[in-house]
Amino acid sequence: MDQKTQVSLKERLNPKGWSRGKYFAVCAAILFVLITFTATTIYIFTTRGDKPAEEIVTQDPADEADEDTKPEEEELDEQIEEEQTEEPSPEPSPLPSPTPSPEPGLETAPDPAPEPTANWWSYPTPTLATTRSGDDLLVLVNKQYQLPSTYAPSDLVNLAQQPNLNIRLTSTFYLRSIVINDLRNLANAAQAAGLDMSIKSAYRSYATQQSTYQYWVNYNGGSVDAADQVSARAGHSQHQLGTAVDFSSSEVGDQIGAVFHDTAAAAWLGNHAWEYGFVIAYPQGAEEITRYAYESWHYRYIGVANAAEWRASGKTLEEWLAERN
Ligand code: DAL
Ligand code: ZN
Repeated sequence: MDQKTQVSLKERLNPKGWSRGKYFAVCAAILFVLITFTATTIYIFTTRGDKPAEEIVTQDPADEADEDTKPEEEELDEQIEEEQTEEPSPEPSPLPSPTPSPEPGLETAPDPAPEPTANWWSYPTPTLATTRSGDDLLVLVNKQYQLPSTYAPSDLVNLAQQPNLNIRLTSTFYLRSIVINDLRNLANAAQAAGLDMSIKSAYRSYATQQSTYQYWVNYNGGSVDAADQVSARAGHSQHQLGTAVDFSSSEVGDQIGAVFHDTAAAAWLGNHAWEYGFVIAYPQGAEEITRYAYESWHYRYIGVANAAEWRASGKTLEEWLAERN
């Protein structure tokens, strides 16, 4: 090779006539760029490999719209993370800590309340106001229907002041004036039948009935059940009407109660009282209907005509009145 050829080769290899240092600097820069590009490419491909291949391939384009929607679990994790990194509140929470709910599996339904067994002497619920006025001879007053506490008849008269009333009075008693004539007739008929009858109780105010009922509760050692069998609670007594009478006789020392059941006076009343407008209110064997024990001494005045109608019905006074109230 001649000198000219050698020069041209030198020019070709180093056309700009760079110094050796400059030449190496350019080469090093090119090499750096190449290495950086290669490393970046490798990184991109290796990180895409974290996703399952099928996810990349099969992702529906329609889902792309939801890309911002994070899975619930992921969101929850972030939320917990945020809460954990939040600074603790300086104030204690003013809300009371919630009552822990019972474990679902252990929660048992309460036993159904047992149906109350209605005893024959119990009061039905609800109790109601009487449908007729207390002044009405046919008003139904019983364990269901009660008189107002303020009710009192306006025509009460003192029995001791009624002329020719041939029946013994064991205390001071009042009845409605409407009752007196027929009571007189009854007393005269009983006397004519050889009986020595007495009156043991007549009108009782609401307040008196309260104390009477309480007497029976106390008498039975505090048993309301026992008292309810023989005594009305205030408002539920026919004695508040001023038309009810408790009879007795000298046969049993003017007592009332079971001792009176078998007396001649009780038998006579059973057969004849209705003729004078008086009707037995709590007859024997009718406890389920009247809700009171048999009271052979307790009669209620409903008027002669009504009593005759009642007698013909063969019903208890309770049933007969219930049809009219
Ligand atoms: N002894 C009757 C039920 C009353 O208290 O009215
Ligand atoms: Zn009575």
